[in-house]
Amino acid sequence: MNYKIAVIPGDGIGPDIVEQAKLVLTEVGNKYGHSFEYKEVLAGGVAIDKVGEPLPEETIKVCKESDSVLLGAVGGPKWDNLAGDERPEKALLGLRSALELFANIRPATMFNQLRDACPLKDEIIGEGGLDLVVVRELTGGIYFGERGREGEEAYDTMKYSVSEIKRIAKVAFDIAMKRNKKVTSIDKSNILENSRLWRSVVEEVAKDYPEVEVNHLYVDNGAMQLVINPKQFDVILTGNMFGDILSDEASMITGSIGMLPSASLGSSKLGMYEPIHGSAPDIAGMDKANPIATVLSVAMMLRYSFDLEKEAKAIEKAVEQVLEEGYRTGDIMSKGMKLVGTKEMGKLIVEKLN
Ligand code: IPM
Ligand code: MG
Repeated sequence: MNYKIAVIPGDGIGPDIVEQAKLVLTEVGNKYGHSFEYKEVLAGGVAIDKVGEPLPEETIKVCKESDSVLLGAVGGPKWDNLAGDERPEKALLGLRSALELFANIRPATMFNQLRDACPLKDEIIGEGGLDLVVVRELTGGIYFGERGREGEEAYDTMKYSVSEIKRIAKVAFDIAMKRNKKVTSIDKSNILENSRLWRSVVEEVAKDYPEVEVNHLYVDNGAMQLVINPKQFDVILTGNMFGDILSDEASMITGSIGMLPSASLGSSKLGMYEPIHGSAPDIAGMDKANPIATVLSVAMMLRYSFDLEKEAKAIEKAVEQVLEEGYRTGDIMSKGMKLVGTKEMGKLIVEKLN
């Protein structure tokens, strides 16, 4: 089968890592008899520089006509002085909303080989490492509510509807059914009215999943629990802003931030896949970036958009093997390991697929 993929390299290290992910994907295609057709489009700072806006109409059009979107990273200090709506980040928000990608899936998995990079004490991690997934609502809440300025005041509105909460809750419970059957919903319902609605809708949805254990935490406590007892979590379900914050925290405690992929999904098969890390402009184009998070994002694409589980697993296994053999990019380098660049890391993963 032929799959059309819109590719958004973006800014900073984006082009470096996306190039390697494409090589890996192409190799998977060769090996398993699929073909992937890439169409490169502009978004982020590079689009501001070339066509004067962070998210050109053409980009949205190509993405909508594709089977999936692969994104590197957007943003950088060069564009930091621009106003809110003109910034590279606007491209991300615009794509999420134009493609109706309401569900953001961010696994926080600890790689056994990188255990030493985990900032938590050994007794907190215990046996088996860490493996949880944050399911973040992505097209609602305070990110998309009305905002503005009035004289000396500024405001942002946090709003959720029953249907928005319901559909993201279902995604979380469906994922939990394929994992350890536990959902922890995180809100601030001791204060916020929309959080009270959130909690009651999650309770309703939970009734359809009698096998899944569900509990609720306030976000402050949830942030604390992530560092004192992260192993209690299987699937964390939360809103847009809390999910932004908690997914960074969750990824950091695995010690593997350069390794973690993400998927943004809607109600169709079209998804957007990207590493969770940023554009690291300081090492852009220097063959130093770690391409693994992007490579693993491509594995998520195969799994969630194309239902190619075997192919997804093959990529994940190839990454494991390369780590097992001691190859490391600078960000995950430790004593006694073999330092490699972006391209070499990509090549090693491609080799392991065979
Ligand atoms: C993320 C990022 C984005 C967000 C920014 C860059 C708009 O932090 O994907 O987590 O806040 O959603
Ligand atoms: Mg973030």
